[in-house]
Amino acid sequence: MAVDLLLGLQWGDEGKGKIVDVLTSDYDIIARFQGGPNAGHTLEFNGIKHVLHTIPSGIFHENSENIIGNGVVIDPVIFQKEIDELSGFNIDFAKKLFISRKAHLILPTHRLLDTASETAKGKAKIGSTLKGIGPTYMDKTGRNGLRIGDIELSDFMDRYNALRGKHLEMLENYNVDIQFDLEELEREFFLAIDSIKKLKFIDSEKYFSDAKKGGRTILAEGAQGTLLDVDFGTYPFVTSSTTTAAGACTGLGVAPGDIGDVIGIFKAYVTRVGSGPFPTELFDADGAQLAKAGNEFGSTTGRARRCGWLDLVALKYACEINGVTKLYMMKADVLSGFDTLKVCTHYKYRGEKIDFFPYNIEEKNIEPIYTEVPGWKKDLTKVKSSSEFPENLNKYVEYIEKETGIKIEVVSVGPDRTQTITM
Ligand code: IMP
Repeated sequence: MAVDLLLGLQWGDEGKGKIVDVLTSDYDIIARFQGGPNAGHTLEFNGIKHVLHTIPSGIFHENSENIIGNGVVIDPVIFQKEIDELSGFNIDFAKKLFISRKAHLILPTHRLLDTASETAKGKAKIGSTLKGIGPTYMDKTGRNGLRIGDIELSDFMDRYNALRGKHLEMLENYNVDIQFDLEELEREFFLAIDSIKKLKFIDSEKYFSDAKKGGRTILAEGAQGTLLDVDFGTYPFVTSSTTTAAGACTGLGVAPGDIGDVIGIFKAYVTRVGSGPFPTELFDADGAQLAKAGNEFGSTTGRARRCGWLDLVALKYACEINGVTKLYMMKADVLSGFDTLKVCTHYKYRGEKIDFFPYNIEEKNIEPIYTEVPGWKKDLTKVKSSSEFPENLNKYVEYIEKETGIKIEVVSVGPDRTQTITM
């Protein structure tokens, strides 16, 4: 058995959900390994658009099992809403959605702490989605967290109350004015806990070991992107989990030797939501055109995404860290209409020309160095095969392949399942 990985190579929002959905028919099991409701994986098919936050993107396929791994953090309230929103799809959740007992729970007070922390940071804020992700992972690594498996224990309420008490003390120390009705938040939380109990909890490492023995195929679905990784991203403007390939091993309980293909997803340009450095960010009409044509608004928060040209320095870095074996390029259709496209090939870093991703990519240290390539005018959204691609798109694809040394296997030309072109 090989566990194939699918992950984002930029700052998230690369279109991973769409591709998992497209690939699901090739796999028996789809598994999320990190992140939580900060993610928003958008899927479009049969004229329906759907955004998933915690549930793996294989949920719509009849024969796939969907696993929420131990590396994921779960907000039961958001999770329940997601399940409710899928009620029209006739999905038998008890049969096809399983949760690792070792996944951590996001408490209402984790969300409050997230808000307090961001408020206290003022201008230096991370731009968090405020879903409680950071405080929950802090409790996990601090060995204070509550896990899904704890729900089954007779002293769950004692554990809950102990952590809640700790959080309320921490909130006082932040000394910021945030309004909340904890009683109401807890009412929702415990209702959702009752619902989540109806699903099957598993020991995911045992589940994957059995799947391996049974020769079943697995696709691990990453959330966020490589440049938001807590170690290798643009720290501190990152999320709190390991979004890179290594995270799939720790977030599911599979061994490194079991990893097969690593599918790296990237947009034909770059976007970022929230704060933090972004060397190729555009503040001009070209940036506005990308934002408009790409409908670049966050699927979880609705925030406008920052847009910029493709950054090859960052892309090569992401390919290396993850050991990418196949590239999928998304949103090529958004680049239609430009006379010329710019691609960043190097950075000027403290006066020196470099071709690697340095420790500090803050604006004051970095200036992108671009090469220009010819654009294309053709609307790609109706294209059915790569033979219909304009010549300059083929050249763009070949150029990226040559620079990264990795084949682009798929080019996506629109949000729908059908707008996916295999090269
Ligand atoms: P948090 O993980 O919600 O605390 O957010 C930390 C940073 O990661 C912020 O800049 C967010 O905008 C960003 N972020 C978190 N999740 C996503 C995602 O799924 N897509 C894009 N950006 C994200």
